[in-house]
Amino acid sequence: MTSTDTVTAPTSKRTPQPRTYLMCRPEHFTVSYRINPWMEPANPTDTARAVEQWQSLYDTYVSLGHTIELIDPIPGLPDMVYTANGGFIIDGTAYGASFTYPERQPEGPAFMQWFADHGFDVVEPKNINEGEGDFLLVGDTILAGTGFRSTTDSHKELADLYGREVLSLTLTNPNFYHLDTAISVLDPLTGDRDANIAYLPSAFDEASLALLEERYPNAIHVSEEDSRILGLNSISDGYNVVIAKRATGFEAQLRERGYNPIGVDLSELLLGGGGVKCCTLELRR
Ligand code: ARG
Repeated sequence: MTSTDTVTAPTSKRTPQPRTYLMCRPEHFTVSYRINPWMEPANPTDTARAVEQWQSLYDTYVSLGHTIELIDPIPGLPDMVYTANGGFIIDGTAYGASFTYPERQPEGPAFMQWFADHGFDVVEPKNINEGEGDFLLVGDTILAGTGFRSTTDSHKELADLYGREVLSLTLTNPNFYHLDTAISVLDPLTGDRDANIAYLPSAFDEASLALLEERYPNAIHVSEEDSRILGLNSISDGYNVVIAKRATGFEAQLRERGYNPIGVDLSELLLGGGGVKCCTLELRR
C-alpha cells in the first residue's frame, strides 16, 4: 500500500467516454403552439439567438471529444431541435418515435428515415412514445417515463425489443412532462455506482419514488429551483456533465460527487420547454 491509498475518496474516479450524438440546428425554431406549460405562443422567440445558443452546446460537445451528427431541420417543425424525442437507440437498433400531439407527429417518420439512411435497424413503433425524452439507459436498465407522453404499452414494446429490464416511472407534474426533465443519467455505463443518477423527487408518484429510492439510494436529489430551469435536462459522459448554466445548486452537487459540470445557456430553447438533453439524442451503434 502506498501512502496515497490511505486517503479514501468520496467516490471512485469518474471516467469520461466519448459519445456520438444526433442534433438538429434550430433554423426553424419558434413557439407557434402550446403542448407543454413552458410554451407560450404569444411570447416572442428569437430564432437567430436559438441557433447561437445551440451552436455553443454543439461546440461544447466537440471540445469534449464527442462526435456530432446532424439531421436537417424541416420547415414547419419548430420542435425538431429537440432530437432526444426522435427515437431511442441501443446497439444499432432504433426504436422510432410516435408523437403524442399532431403538431410533432411528422417528426417520427423524418427521424426514422434518417436512422435508416445512416445504417440503423429501424423498428416502427406500435405505441405512442417520445424516444429518449422518456427512455433513459442506466447500466443495463431502461428507465421509462409515462404520465404525459409515452404510454406504458410502449414500455412493454421496448422491453420485448431490447430484452432488457424496463422500469416504468410515472410523472405527475406537467412542468416535468418528459422523464429527461426529471432525471439525469450521470454514469450511464455502470448502473450501480454512487450518484449515478440525479432526480427531482416531487416529479414522481409515490410508487415510482419508492422504486427510485430503492434502486438508487445514492442518487443526487435536485432542488425544485434548479429543476424549474431544466437543470436536470443534462448530458453526462461519465465525468463531464453539460448542464443549464443557471443550475448552480446542481452544479455544486455534481462537483461534490466527483463530476465536472459545464454550464451552457439555452434560455431561448427553454421557451419551447427543452434544455441540453432535449437537444441531444445518443446514437449507440
Ligand atoms: N416543445 C417540445 C415538446 O413539448 C419540447 C420537447 C422537449 N424534449 C425533451 N426531451 N424533454 O414536445
